[in-house]
Amino acid sequence: MQATSVRSFSQSVAAAPQPRKPFTAAAAPGRRSVAVSAGLSTQKDNPFAEELKATAKYIAQRGRGILASDESNATTGKRLESVGVENTEDNRRDWRQLLYTAPGLGQYISGAIMFEETLYQKARDGTQFVDVLKGQGIVPGIKVDTGLQVLPGTDGETATQGLDNLGARCEAYYKQGARFAKWRAVLKISEGAGPSSQAILENAHGLARYAQIAQANGLVPIVEPEVTLGPGSYSIEETAYWSERVYSCVMRMLNEYDVMLEGILLKPNMCLPGLDAPPASPAEVAKYTVRTMLRTIPAAVPGIHFLSGGMSEEESTLNLQALQEACPNAPWSLTFSYGRALQSSTLKTWAGREENWDKAQQILLALAKANSEAQLGQFKGPHPVPGGGRILQALRTGGAGK
Ligand code: 13P
Repeated sequence: MQATSVRSFSQSVAAAPQPRKPFTAAAAPGRRSVAVSAGLSTQKDNPFAEELKATAKYIAQRGRGILASDESNATTGKRLESVGVENTEDNRRDWRQLLYTAPGLGQYISGAIMFEETLYQKARDGTQFVDVLKGQGIVPGIKVDTGLQVLPGTDGETATQGLDNLGARCEAYYKQGARFAKWRAVLKISEGAGPSSQAILENAHGLARYAQIAQANGLVPIVEPEVTLGPGSYSIEETAYWSERVYSCVMRMLNEYDVMLEGILLKPNMCLPGLDAPPASPAEVAKYTVRTMLRTIPAAVPGIHFLSGGMSEEESTLNLQALQEACPNAPWSLTFSYGRALQSSTLKTWAGREENWDKAQQILLALAKANSEAQLGQFKGPHPVPGGGRILQALRTGGAGK
């Protein structure tokens, strides 16, 4: 038998052409012409790199989450009108002031997402809202997408708009004090069908371009691919399957655009069955949601901030608690970025009446505290708003609504 010729490691190295030229992407046909040294890519060139990482880490710290209060003027108006409050600029300001000045809110909330009007608004005493938030230890954020447009040729699926002038807008928002941004992409599951490949690719592309532009301008991008809770009797397994496809495509695209993962936050849906299917227990929601995250989200991402997406206030807290139990050593913070689940009862309690102001703030604080405890896996109950139903009122209006 002929002896196999085994080349030693040093022989192999000696045989390799030496010295190797430093790799530049220009050498690869069809690739970018920028030099890529030691895999540092845009992180090396981005003067905000360290700040982005620090901001994302701060927002994702354990025991805290995000208050999503970035509803457009039209959507805010609908909510205000639902409790008998007229949709005026002053009333929108008062509502946000109630939220942002709740005493001690910063103990549970690390970031607040605002709509553009609010970012430039002042509290009644003339203090800029960004300063009110910073005073509470809450990082001001800004929604930068401009809403959804239907994708032609699909069954009502959408693409998120807002890339035009995004760089200039992000630069201005940073000057005004914003340090993170949000862009919401919506993917739908309907009876028997998940999102189309066209919708997945288009939305992943939009999220990646947005994230790249936000980071270039010093804003930590919240990447929000929402597989939205909708009508139908589809199962939790189907939601998990489609969520996995969506998130893996989004992460792939972020990589394609050199987005620095330590400087982003993810805002996904929890995996739930369709609205007409029997509800899933918190343990089941947690099992499928954690499995999906472990399969798709790299540990470099500091925080996964779930949206409430129509879950009741209590359900949002119990599911968040169950996530910690299902994944006690999660590499990311499994936490919240709730809109409806923090605001709904707060707004109903306030109803535009000065005399209800303190009581409404107490409800907000109790909800924020419950979710903070759930993030730490320490929520024991009772819940401040027990047994409420799903919060499915139309919260997103028109093309530019949230
Ligand atoms: P909900 O928690 O009401 O789903 O809102 C979060 C959000 O900001 C969705 O874009």
